[in-house]
Amino acid sequence: MNANDLLSRRRQALAPAYELFYEEPIHLVRGEGVWLFGADGRRYLDCYNNVPSVGHCHPRVVEAIANQARVLNTHTRYLHEKIVELGERLGTKLSDNLRACWFVCSGTEANDLATQIARTVTGRYGMVVSEGSYHGNSDLVATLSTEVSYTPKDRPDWLAATEAPDTYRGSLRAGSEACGEDALAEHYATKVSEGVEGLASRGYQPAAMLVDSSWDANGMLIPPKGYLAKAASIVRAAGGLFIADEVQAGYCRLGDAWWGHECYDVVPDLVVLGKPMGGGHPVAAVISTPEIAAAFGERINYFNTFGGNPVSAAAALAVLDVIDEEGLLENAFEVGRHLERSLAELQKEHSIIGDVRGSGLFWGIDLVRDRESREPIERAEAKRIVSAICEAGVLMGLMGNHSNVLKMRPPLPFSSDNADHALEVIDACLKRYET
Ligand SMILES: Cc1ncc(COP(=O)(O)O)c(C=O)c1O
Repeated sequence: MNANDLLSRRRQALAPAYELFYEEPIHLVRGEGVWLFGADGRRYLDCYNNVPSVGHCHPRVVEAIANQARVLNTHTRYLHEKIVELGERLGTKLSDNLRACWFVCSGTEANDLATQIARTVTGRYGMVVSEGSYHGNSDLVATLSTEVSYTPKDRPDWLAATEAPDTYRGSLRAGSEACGEDALAEHYATKVSEGVEGLASRGYQPAAMLVDSSWDANGMLIPPKGYLAKAASIVRAAGGLFIADEVQAGYCRLGDAWWGHECYDVVPDLVVLGKPMGGGHPVAAVISTPEIAAAFGERINYFNTFGGNPVSAAAALAVLDVIDEEGLLENAFEVGRHLERSLAELQKEHSIIGDVRGSGLFWGIDLVRDRESREPIERAEAKRIVSAICEAGVLMGLMGNHSNVLKMRPPLPFSSDNADHALEVIDACLKRYET
């Protein structure tokens, strides 16, 4: 089947809202580890996909899914060893008191449920989020996702969107004034206080603050030290809970710890898990304290037909096994250090790179018109660049509220050699673009 025929069939069969990556869409037929293979026989280095967290089609995950599917697949209303084991094992990866699990099928469902839990147990309705965030696409969660659906005038009164801690392009910038991490943390935490005060002035108290611990939609941010802990304590002092959306930052992505919030010394009340959890299989979760779970359970008898079924549980358990046995947290840390050095070198070579930020195996390369003004390049230009990188055999994405940040977020077994290969390709493409 040639790609154009498939494209026109797709246009007939799928709703038009579905986006395709790259100026020339690619047709993939197989994946293995960090590599993807096209119908045309081409091989691509995957620097983008975090869902196949332990590598594409990892044999352990594939086998676990197939073995369980062969025997039984029901749901969470029957006793099943693997479902219980998954809950127990996830609990061991989190701070002591976070061990009550709800299983769902997507990050959206998990954020929807976490919001429902927070509202139910606090008896409050307000929500605090970062400006420019993305948490999913249900009606409720799209409202919480200030990146996508609503302009400020459409926002409900119960929502406070506070400035994200963007020390590169935000209202207080690192290095731009006589300010260190403390002043930056204080500045952005004050935005959270203002958000909470704004809610109160509109008659709402916060049920929770929901934060993506990697600020992926903002172009991947590393917050100033102390910011997240301050933000959480401000919301808690106002009676709300702190929800860490770990759909992007979780599962070792940031290299220093299993979870993004751990890197920032915060213990959340609720943790949201998604994308990487099933190694490609759709499974997600909310994890909370037994006290919060009990308070919610008294009011709501939650059930999710597919969430946490035995096949999903088998996939998620295999992912936990592989991460531990293959040392993928350590790998993310080491390759992350290598990327940090190499990306800094790359930045020196290209004036179009205004900023490089990230950690572990999650990096953003912020492309600008001018380093001084930090004005982002146009979306169309960024798309041309990421398409050229794809054409040269390396898959990356775009992120950020201006879609100008090259996103590098590969499967966890990504090696330093893979990183060198990717950076050579990016270097060559940027050179071609700049001349
Ligand atoms: C931080 C974050 N939370 C939640 C979601 C939603 O997850 P899903 O697409 O599985 O519903 C996403 C998806 O990109 C995300 O990046």
